[in-house]
Amino acid sequence: MEKPATRIDWTANSCRLLKATAAEFEKTRPFAGLSIGTGIHLEPKTVALLMTLRAGGARLICTGNLNSTQPVTVEFLRAQGITVFATQTTDPAAHARSLEAVLAEKPDLLLDNGGDLFAIAADRLYANLLGGTEETTSGRTRLLPMRETLAMPILVINDSPIKQFAENKHAVGQSLFESYMRFTNRSTNGKRVTVFGYGACGKGTAACFRNAFSTVSVVDIDPVTSLEAHLDGFATPLREQAIRSADVIATVTGFPGIVTAADLPLIKDGAVLMNGGHFPHEIDVAAFRSHSDVVDIDRYEADFIDTFHLKDGRSFHVLGGGHMANLAGPRPLGNSVESMDIGFTLQARCLERVAKRGVGAESCIVPVPADIDAMVASAYLDLAR
Ligand SMILES: NC(=O)c1ccc[n+]([C@@H]2O[C@H](COP(=O)([O-])OP(=O)(O)OC[C@H]3O[C@@H](n4cnc5c(N)ncnc54)[C@H](O)[C@@H]3O)[C@@H](O)[C@H]2O)c1
Repeated sequence: MEKPATRIDWTANSCRLLKATAAEFEKTRPFAGLSIGTGIHLEPKTVALLMTLRAGGARLICTGNLNSTQPVTVEFLRAQGITVFATQTTDPAAHARSLEAVLAEKPDLLLDNGGDLFAIAADRLYANLLGGTEETTSGRTRLLPMRETLAMPILVINDSPIKQFAENKHAVGQSLFESYMRFTNRSTNGKRVTVFGYGACGKGTAACFRNAFSTVSVVDIDPVTSLEAHLDGFATPLREQAIRSADVIATVTGFPGIVTAADLPLIKDGAVLMNGGHFPHEIDVAAFRSHSDVVDIDRYEADFIDTFHLKDGRSFHVLGGGHMANLAGPRPLGNSVESMDIGFTLQARCLERVAKRGVGAESCIVPVPADIDAMVASAYLDLAR
């Protein structure tokens, strides 16, 4: 018999590790009597994680990240009786209201992505907050200065070696490459691509464009990392030359102001600029919009592309307004299901550890415990054999 199925069903069925974890949690109920506040992209893969936490007995209060909330996902979660405070928005004030609404419920645990929730909690600590998890590099950087104030277990998923290679390296590279194709429908063959940042995400991005027959240059502020890129066979020109020569510029550093209005004289005619870093501040799109050298902007509304025309006749394109390209634009799918299945299983196991008081305040902003890494790796390999 034929029956309609959705992307959420497809994703849930593809997340085999989470499915197995949910089946176990239904018996062990590690979150019985506890609430979890979540601030992470509301898209189908997150649903698989949230349903796993709920299978473990958690009451969920959810919001998303800036610009990546998918209305169908929100509808689905609400239909499951889960509390969601989120709208699809690029307005930081609207997003801040959703974060406040989650924290007003005083969840026992927080699952954060980018440090949005813990940063507010650090200002207004409440007694029942046990700790939680932070998903990403940018969140770790943001929360580290608040370590003494937070003084509770916060396990950083990003700092698991598994997350580094499974998601940041392999999946971000693939999905940024896929996003370039999806947004532009342009080829990569023979194109000169400059990747800013040669951390895990940059490594995968550089490799994927090279595998797609582009000539790839890497710019990293750290000379040791630049040497690694050089020895990996990438060109490592100085920053100015790397911008001048690029047909495509991809930023994946986690830091603001990587390409700014000061670079307008350098940008090659026809260049495509895209960001894969967590926050939309790596390419200073707002400064481009108001700069006196920019005489016209074409907004390809349905395609999420802005074309900036410069006084001297050059033009260049920005994808997704400088937001994470793999979660922006038409039909954004984000990282591969398998990579998120692994990363979100680390999330579920780390939250379980905090819920069971298996880690203390000394574990504030520390990597995933090694035994959890080993358990998740073995479980994935068992499924793959
Ligand atoms: N798009 C996604 O799906 C996704 C997934 C995971 C992580 N991220 C984000 O991607 C970003 C990078 O993550 P990562 O794990 O690769 O980080 P990382 O810290 O491993 O690497 C960042 C690299 O950027 C370099 N860098 C810093 N400032 C620079 C500058 N001004 N110019 C050139 N290079 C500079 C650093 O030296 C470092 O090598 C973060 O914002 C992270 O949150 C995005």
